[in-house]
Order: sequence, then C-alpha cells, then structure tokens
Amino acid sequence: MQIEEKIIDENRQGEALNFQSSSQNNKKLFLESYGCQMNFSDSEIVASILDKEGYTTTQQLDQADLILLNTCSIREKAEQTVRKRLTQFNTLKKNKPALTIGVLGCMAERLKEKFLEEEHLVDLVVGPDAYRDLPNLLQETDDGRSAVNVLLSRDETYADLSPVRLGGNGITAFVSITRGCDNMCTFCVVPFTRGRERSRDPHSIIEECKELWKNGYKEVTLLGQNVDSFLWYGGGLKKDIKKASEIQKATAVDFAKLLEMVATAVPDMRIRFTTSNPQDMNRNVLHTMAKYANICKYIHLPVQSGSTSVLKRMNRQHTREEYLQLIDDIRTILPDCALSHDMIAGFCGETEEEHQDTLSLMEYVQYDFGYMFAYSERPGTPAHKKMPDDVPTDVKKRRLKEIMDLQQKHAFKRMTAYVGKVHEVLIEGDSKKSNQEWMGRNTQNAVVVFPKTGEEKPGDFVNVLVNNCTTATLLGNRV
Ligand code: SAH
Ligand code: F3S
Repeated sequence: MQIEEKIIDENRQGEALNFQSSSQNNKKLFLESYGCQMNFSDSEIVASILDKEGYTTTQQLDQADLILLNTCSIREKAEQTVRKRLTQFNTLKKNKPALTIGVLGCMAERLKEKFLEEEHLVDLVVGPDAYRDLPNLLQETDDGRSAVNVLLSRDETYADLSPVRLGGNGITAFVSITRGCDNMCTFCVVPFTRGRERSRDPHSIIEECKELWKNGYKEVTLLGQNVDSFLWYGGGLKKDIKKASEIQKATAVDFAKLLEMVATAVPDMRIRFTTSNPQDMNRNVLHTMAKYANICKYIHLPVQSGSTSVLKRMNRQHTREEYLQLIDDIRTILPDCALSHDMIAGFCGETEEEHQDTLSLMEYVQYDFGYMFAYSERPGTPAHKKMPDDVPTDVKKRRLKEIMDLQQKHAFKRMTAYVGKVHEVLIEGDSKKSNQEWMGRNTQNAVVVFPKTGEEKPGDFVNVLVNNCTTATLLGNRV
C-alpha cells in the first residue's frame, strides 16, 4: 500500500538522476525531482533539452555547476521538503558562487518571482510549460542575472522532444499524453500550476511508444492529470473543439481510441495509464481494455470522498451513486481489474457522517491500493478562498488513520485472493531485499517477488505461481 506522497517509486523521490550528454560543455547538472509521475516525466524532457546544450549529469552535489529542483506544490508538506533542500544547496553556493540553482515545476509556477524575492537564494525559476526556454534563461544566469519564465501555454506538449530516460529500469517508461487540468477541484492547486488541459498529437505518442519498444522497453504508462479527457482534433485546448472543422470533429481521437491505437501499434508492450477521473471515464475505455490483453487490468480511480455533499464542495462532477455505478460497470466488463483510489480526509466542513460515507464506500469497492492524504489547504485555490479549513488537525489525523487502516485490511484481502493462482509477471529487476530474487508486477499492478532460477532476466514475461502474500507483495515461484 502506498501512502502519503503519491509517487512512482518511493526510492526515486528526490533522487538525482543521471544521463550522459551527447555533446559536452564541461558543465555538470544535478537534477532532482519531487512529486508525481508527471514531474519525473518532465525531468526527462528537461534532461533532453539540456543534453543538447552539452550538460552531463552528476550525482555528486559538490561537482555540480547547475542544480535543478523539479518541485511539487500539491500539499504543504511537499513544499516544506523542497525548502529544506534549497537551504542545503545555499550552503554550497556560499563556497561556490558560480553555482547556479534553479527551481522548476509546480512550486516555481505557484510562487513565480516571489521565489527570487522572498524565498531562498535561487537564480532561476521555470514553470512547467517553459522548459524550452532553459538555454536562454541559463545564458542570462551565466551573465550574472536571475531569470524567470513561468508563462503557461495553451498548446505546449513537448511532443517533438525525445525524453532522455533517467534513472529508470530500462523496462518501464512514462509517456505523457496530456498536460494541465481543466477540472478545478476546489482543493487542488494543479490547474493553477500546470495550466489548461491540452492533448498531445497521437502520432507522436505512438512514435514514442514504438521507439521505446525498439529500445527494449516492455511497459509504458500513459500519463496525464486526467487521461480520460484526452481529445485530439488537431487543435489546442480541448474546450475549443466547438470551433473545429467538421473534418477535425469527425477524425478526433478520444482516449478509448488512443488506447486502441497504442495497443495495436505495440502489441507486445504492456500498457498502463494514469490518472482516470470518474466523471470522464466512458464505458468505451472499459471495452477497449477488455478487448486487448496487453492493456493492463488496473485502474487508478481517485474518488477523494465517499460523500456526495463533500464531492459537491470539492467540485467533483459526480455523486457517490454515479461512482458506485461506474465501479459496478468495471466489475462487470473487467472482472479481474484491480482498482486504487486517492482519498482526502478532513476536507472543509467534513462531518463525522460524511467521513463514515467514505469508509462505507471503501467497504463497497474493496480497493487493491490507496493513496491517502489529510486535507492540506493550498493558497489561491477555490477552497482556500471560499471555505474554512475547519476540521481540527487531530480529527483529520484520526479519520486519515481510519481510512488507512481500512485500506490496509482491503489490500490484504485482495492480495490473499491472488494466492494459489498463476500470474504473468514482467520482471523489472532485483527485489528490494535480495539479489537472489526478482521483482515484477502482474497485470493488476501488484508487486510479485520470486526466487531467480538463472533462466530469466529483467524484461522477460514469466509465469509465477503465488503461494503467499503480505499487504503489499505477492510471493511465489516460477512455473
Ligand atoms: N488528477 C491528478 C491528481 C493530482 S493530485 C492525478 O494525476 O493524479 C493527486 C492527489 O493528491 C489528488 O487526487 C488528491 O487526492 C490529493 N490532493 C490534491 N490536492 C490536495 C490537497 N490540497 N490536500 C490533500 N490532498 C490533495
Ligand atoms: Fe487536481 Fe482535480 Fe485536476 S484533483 S489535477 S483539479 S482532476
């Protein structure tokens, strides 16, 4: 079960990532990422842009000429982590004045010039849509000026850039398909830090997936804040489709169609996607998942609360009943599908009864995994402006614990149901605990650990008979 910060892999959070530049300028970059998958994926774009400028990466802080921190604003705690890290970097700068320190990502976008004025000593502030400008901005900092570009774009998707794969396992990769979010959930800072929703040209997505396959990758995760609202019609913002020509409308590609295009373009590649928003998930996506064996049977379907009144205050566009109907449809169309959720405890005005609705919804769904958070008020969001953050901290904590305990129980129950069955596992690498064991995942995204037989390698698909489990891991033997 993953909790607290929602991240790809806890081990990678804050990790400095390495690549070898194709042309050298003798400058070394230390690039560290925090937050969601999208940030890690963006860091790969940044690496690609700086690769062309001749930067090589280093994991030794004291060797760096440029330190870039890709930041997250989703909760107060995420920002605190970044501030602490910047304080450490500033100590370095005292002894090495030529060192350039830059902040990228959501916190850069949220605080803008304020980062230069009020926060720690940084030279460079770059928002998520301005990474192409990095070479120019670095020229400015080289000339001794500080530089800021936090312009949000209506059409930037970095579609033409080949991301430099950083610090991954060479087997699984992220492919970004949309940027931004138009949903305006009242608690969420993302629409302000990542701008309007736009979809990427499907052909560039397919090309990237094919390239990954050619390079030995066996699994892609299609990424977006809200993948189900993917819509490509040759235009920019989704909301502008009304202005599109008849031909554009007739040939538009929605998420179900995109999934099918990817599934058939790379038929032996495993395909995952995240994140789905219940209000936008149409049943065609479920039927497409059922039709193609290479689309993994796992849906991350954040609900945030089990109470219709809370969902309304959150500006989520569905009720409890509509969500449960969607769950029923998933269970009917995809009986083996695993489900996970995001849940927020103690949102503005949440009563005990509303909290109980969350627990009962969880009881109904019995999620495999969950990402659970205490509500953290974010400056500038509609909730911050209009609703008091009035659930006392101890109550938030207690409710969060109840949610986590229940999730733990359900996770174990779900994992237990996998015991005694044979699972197809994609081997990702050594298990955390031992180099005598492999770690991989089944289609439902559950981690499977089994002893090496000497006849398999990372990237292989193997069958494993599961004979035991914990709340987070299936254990077994190759058959
Ligand atoms: N659609 C996005 C959601 C990004 S935020 C995606 O791709 O996952 C991830 C999760 O963080 C949200 O689903 C929500 O559960 C949680 N979150 C967002 N804002 C929050 C806040 N202010 N306080 C606590 N949790 C929050
Ligand atoms: Fe945030 Fe809601 Fe979009 S949680 S990212 S505003 S779907």
